[in-house]
Amino acid sequence: MFFGETYEPPVWEKARKDGHISHELLKLSRNYPDKVRLYNFWIQVQRLKQRDVKGDFAELGVYKGESARLIHLMDSSRMFHLFDTFEGFTNADLKPETGKAATYSSNDFADTSINKVLKNIGGNTDKIKVHPGHFPDSAVGLQEYNFALVNMDADLYNPTKAGLEYFYPRLSQGGVIIIHDYNEKWEGLVKAVDEFSAKIPEQLVVIPDLDSTVMILKNRL
Ligand SMILES: C[S@@+](CC[C@H](N)C(=O)[O-])C[C@H]1O[C@@H](n2cnc3c(N)ncnc32)[C@H](O)[C@@H]1O
Repeated sequence: MFFGETYEPPVWEKARKDGHISHELLKLSRNYPDKVRLYNFWIQVQRLKQRDVKGDFAELGVYKGESARLIHLMDSSRMFHLFDTFEGFTNADLKPETGKAATYSSNDFADTSINKVLKNIGGNTDKIKVHPGHFPDSAVGLQEYNFALVNMDADLYNPTKAGLEYFYPRLSQGGVIIIHDYNEKWEGLVKAVDEFSAKIPEQLVVIPDLDSTVMILKNRL
C-alpha cells in the first residue's frame, strides 16, 4: 500500500492541528489528486520560510492556474510571477519533440486566459505578476528578480532548457526549482533537465509523486 486516502505527513498533520493551514488550502488539499505533489510544494514553502530564504516565487507553465493556486495559498506574501503563453504550446517548441509530446498540438492547453487564471488563483492579486507570451521571450528585459521557488511545468525541451538557464542563476542560495513530469514519457523535458544538471554542482532530487517531479536545491556557499 502506498498512501491511504487519509494519509498526511506528520509535519502537515501537526500544522493542521495547530491551525496553521488555511481553510481554503485544506479544502483544496482534500480534492487534489496528487497528494505527494501538494505536500512536497508545502514542505518546500515551509522550509523557505523557516530558513528565511529570500526571493520571489515563479511558475513557468501555468495553464489554468491549478498548481499556481496551491503555491500562492501556501505563501501569499511572496511576489509570484506567472509565465505562460496562456494560448498553449507553440508549433516551434513542439517541432523537435519526440515521445508523448510529439502527439500534442498547439490546441493543447490553449483553453485558458489570464483572467481565468487570476480568478482561479484569487487571493492577494497585488502579489501576482503575469508575464504572458512565449518563454524565454517573455523574460527579456524584465528587471533582475531573485527567486526562492520556481515551479516548472512546461512539458517540452525548449521551455524547460530556457527556464533552467533563466531561473537557476537567479535562484537564491537554499532556493528550489521544482520540475514536473521528469519521466520517460516526456523525452525532451528529461533531456533538457539531464543536460542542465550535468553542468551544475547540485544533485537532482526525485520526488515519487504521480508524474515524477525532480528538484534542484541550490547549494549554500
Ligand atoms: C501542463 S501545463 C501547466 C499545468 C499547471 N502547472 C498545473 O499543474 O495546473 C503546461 C503549460 O506550459 C505552457 N508552455 C509550454 N511552453 C511554453 C513556452 N515556451 N512559453 C510559455 N508557456 C509555455 C503551456 O501554454 C501550458 O499552459
